[in-house]
Amino acid sequence: MTNQRILTPGSMSRRRVLTAAGTAGLLLPFRGLGGVAWAAATPATYKKWVLVKPCTDNVVTPAHFRMVEEPMPQIKDGQTLIQVKLINVHASTRNRMGPKGSTKVGDTDKTNYACAQVLQSRDRTFKEGDIIACQAGWQTHQVISSEDESIGYGKANELVKELNGTKSHWNYVFRPVMVRQHTPDVLMDVFGTSGTTAYFGMRECGPIMPSDKIAVAGTTGSVGAMAAQIAKAKGAYVVGFGGGPERAKWVTDTLGIDKALDYRAKNLDEQLKAAFPDGIDVYSDGVGGPLTESIAKLMKPNSRFFSYGSSASVYDDTPEGDARSTGRQFGMTDAVDKIIRERNIKLEAWIVHVHYQDRLECEDNLSQLIATKKLKPINTVVDGIENVPKGIISQYETNVYGKLQLRFAA
Ligand SMILES: NC(=O)c1ccc[n+]([C@@H]2O[C@H](COP(=O)([O-])OP(=O)(O)OC[C@H]3O[C@@H](n4cnc5c(N)ncnc54)[C@H](OP(=O)(O)O)[C@@H]3O)[C@@H](O)[C@H]2O)c1
Repeated sequence: MTNQRILTPGSMSRRRVLTAAGTAGLLLPFRGLGGVAWAAATPATYKKWVLVKPCTDNVVTPAHFRMVEEPMPQIKDGQTLIQVKLINVHASTRNRMGPKGSTKVGDTDKTNYACAQVLQSRDRTFKEGDIIACQAGWQTHQVISSEDESIGYGKANELVKELNGTKSHWNYVFRPVMVRQHTPDVLMDVFGTSGTTAYFGMRECGPIMPSDKIAVAGTTGSVGAMAAQIAKAKGAYVVGFGGGPERAKWVTDTLGIDKALDYRAKNLDEQLKAAFPDGIDVYSDGVGGPLTESIAKLMKPNSRFFSYGSSASVYDDTPEGDARSTGRQFGMTDAVDKIIRERNIKLEAWIVHVHYQDRLECEDNLSQLIATKKLKPINTVVDGIENVPKGIISQYETNVYGKLQLRFAA
């Protein structure tokens, strides 16, 4: 494990900007009879980063990327031209850039969860000026359609299609109230897959009670930071984790939970026993590996286990096994599996889209937690299309807190 994270924590505001490259907005708002309308000053060209060569041995360098400038595409019936405001960087980006990954040489990574604004539309669902969620490449502009299916994680179910007016769980128009209340970075952090995974995980392990003793792994990361705050808002006793004493201190200082442990500490098992003398009721796990094995030993019979990811292997530069196997995806080992069966632990392990028919419920509840100051967005923003390679590399080399995002337009 050589994931070197060397940036220091930001100020009280968790929304830090690593670099400011000053991206000019391309839309000019004006008020007409029908409310806010948008005069689109669509540029003649757009910028895109493409993969130059597969990323081998899990090492991403600037040499893997090349920026190209291409003529702005013309839309046809059923299509929409969007300006990409911001994309989330996912921990698995470098796997996708690998020899067996979905990002092909000469192409961009099309799977990123993004916030965008509609510039031109000949599509039934998207209107000019809409702020939308979608999947986008490392690029400033893109053509999409409500007919596009989700890239990755299977097809959207009928309820989600009806709710979104699209064929993808990830493509939908944000309600105006959401756009008024939250900036694009918050829309894609708290209301993107990080916050929604945390929300549905806690809901499915619920009801979370003040008597519950909860361990939340990956608490300096994007999903864990949300899960820990949601559990705390329910009044539970919550213990988080960070890679090193400074990151553990950041967890308690920033997230306001009860305790945080350095998961790399030699005496971690002792510290865990002291933190949970009567055992653990709920474990939110996005990391797997040795930490999960230690925590599982302390889980009570009939307790609840929410397993959503495997950061321990995602961030391991030389992980074992097939990255696409279920065991690797959820970080499960045979030892943990045995404990789950022997203690009749309720296991929740899924990809978040399975709950996306309840997206509005999630948006409303998390908005309320933000409004009542019980939930802080935790994200790190890198500005400027020029900084895509730098931003992606920083996911693996720097002390990112929460969701790492690349912003191309305000
Ligand atoms: N099921 C779903 O729908 C779903 C949704 C979102 C994400 N995921 C998956 O969930 C996982 C986490 O996602 P994320 O976006 O929260 O990741 P993230 O923002 O990159 O955070 C990773 C977290 O894991 C911790 N970590 C790294 N190596 C560790 C180790 N060896 N032992 C213990 N903790 C370790 C990091 O702590 P330090 O940085 O302090 O070391 C950090 O807190 C990924 O596998 C992702 O693919 C699944």
